[in-house]
Amino acid sequence: MKRWALLFLFLATSCTCLAQKPAKTAPVTTYIRAGRLFDATSDRVRENMVIVVEGNRIRSVGPAASISIPAGSNVIDLTRATVLPGLIDCHTHLGSRADRYDEIFRFKDTPFLSAFAAVVNARKTLDAGFTTVRDVGSKPFLAVDLRNSINEGLVPGPRIVASGPGITITGGHGDLNNYSPQISVKMFPEERGFQIADGVDQVRHVVRAQVKYGVDVIKILATGGVLSKGDSPGAPQFTFDELKAAAEEAHMAGRKIAAHAHGTQGIKNAILAGIDSIEHASLIDDEGIRLAKEHGTYLVMDIYNDDYILNNAPAFGLPEENIEKEKMVGRLQRENFEKAFKAGARMAFGTDAGVYPHGDNAKQFFYMVKYGMTPAQAIRSATSSAADLIGRSKDVGTIEAGKYADIIAVAADPLQDVRALEDVGFVMKGGEVFKDAITGRQPH
Ligand code: ARG
Repeated sequence: MKRWALLFLFLATSCTCLAQKPAKTAPVTTYIRAGRLFDATSDRVRENMVIVVEGNRIRSVGPAASISIPAGSNVIDLTRATVLPGLIDCHTHLGSRADRYDEIFRFKDTPFLSAFAAVVNARKTLDAGFTTVRDVGSKPFLAVDLRNSINEGLVPGPRIVASGPGITITGGHGDLNNYSPQISVKMFPEERGFQIADGVDQVRHVVRAQVKYGVDVIKILATGGVLSKGDSPGAPQFTFDELKAAAEEAHMAGRKIAAHAHGTQGIKNAILAGIDSIEHASLIDDEGIRLAKEHGTYLVMDIYNDDYILNNAPAFGLPEENIEKEKMVGRLQRENFEKAFKAGARMAFGTDAGVYPHGDNAKQFFYMVKYGMTPAQAIRSATSSAADLIGRSKDVGTIEAGKYADIIAVAADPLQDVRALEDVGFVMKGGEVFKDAITGRQPH
């Protein structure tokens, strides 16, 4: 290329750079006055605190007396409220609706219907004070796209740690069972590639395929389930070797892996295989609890669900088979939650939202307290512990300098009555206010 041409190219590119560069503005600083602050770094509450938010992160936190707020600053007055870190639900299905239990919908619904629901559900979840969720099962790759759309600011919603569809054995919890072999239904565009896997090689392939499409976490179905047909919650699905291969592949790719497991043996197989969290854990026994402690495996027990499944889902067409299965596991799961917690197993908050209506996530806190936790412990399971399970402790889960400004507030005191969390009045995510029914300011 001639010298003048190079010069021209240089000028042209540097000019467009200059023209396109947005004007640098200083990040906005906001001062939040917290009457009571539960920062989730301990079980204690501190009074009269100030949180300084700069841009999307927390710059500092300290007693009101030690922080001077310059005149004319942007101040959010939560002096009459309890301020906490944004909550984290480690088990949601944002694309699922709790009013579609009739089997016919499995044949009628397109993936688009799930995606529309997910946009609405993301907003409901955020408004309920959940600023982060781990979404563990949707059509490929709804959660990944929703995560990206939220991160781009296209739609409002929580931060999403996204999985692909749950990986299942043929005839397992994630398959469509008990129809005539004459009928062939493709549940997903490429069933084998994303979801059904039999044998170690197929398991490796499906995990890799999901990673290829951008999932943050792998979800595998290690036992039968309640809301599926033709399988039993107590029965193991996948062999130990298959689970081990899945965990190995996920970890090699720098992803965590969660296993759906109700059954006693399937839970142990999953823990020994190196899986990071056991979802449901309904029929866990003493040995399972001991193994979970030994391996540092988190238990994510959805102990609110039983209420909704037995009281509401039948009116939406839930078949008798599933009602019976729920009756088998529901009460035991709550008792085992208490047992496992008292024995010292690690617990992270996860509700299986989508089985019940999105936005009601906080209803589970009541049961966690009823079955053995203090309110502070229940809240920490949904903040600091949840952040640890999802591998995001650097960014979310506590109110500390350097973390994202994911901050919520409730008018009543959740440390007295944890049900106060069912009515979150203020929600900030990444420094942006999405809801404010406490000071009455208009969020944008
Ligand atoms: N998705 C789970 C399943 O179908 C829901 C289990 C809900 N029941 C419960 N007691 N947690 O297996």
